[in-house]
Amino acid sequence: MDAIVLLKEDHKVVEKLFKKFEKAGDKAYKDKRKLVDRIIFELTTHAYIEEEIFYPAARKRVPETTDHVLESVEEHHVVVWMLNELKGLDPKDERFDAKVTVLMENVRHHVEEEEKEWFPQVRAAMKRKELQELGERMEKAKTDAPASPLAVKSAKQ
Ligand SMILES: [Fe+2]
Ligand SMILES: [Fe+2]
Repeated sequence: MDAIVLLKEDHKVVEKLFKKFEKAGDKAYKDKRKLVDRIIFELTTHAYIEEEIFYPAARKRVPETTDHVLESVEEHHVVVWMLNELKGLDPKDERFDAKVTVLMENVRHHVEEEEKEWFPQVRAAMKRKELQELGERMEKAKTDAPASPLAVKSAKQ
């Protein structure tokens, strides 16, 4: 699969989970816990494959994306720490919904920048075959993704 198509599919999966969270009732604590655990899993895996494979490849092959890549890593940094906090936060805690809301704002902004500002530069500069190879590598790497958000590289950067 094409690398950018794969990443955009991941973005859609996460957006669907966000919508479900927004629709969940205030007191639907069990549902919200399950949704947030899925969000943690999906975003950790996604950040991992981007940071291990896609971002370094983009930077190397399309050097004009460097500033965007660096900014994206900083955004991942904030997101993975928020994910880690959410892992240990009780859905009944008054800060739970607020933290998820800010997480969603951050992720939506981040996805918008990736999809609108710099993925198109990568698409334009790289050959289809290269993007397909990157996609295959990322698909495989998903199984190596850590369970802990803090094990993603950007957490310690
Ligand atoms: Fe990203
Ligand atoms: Fe992404």
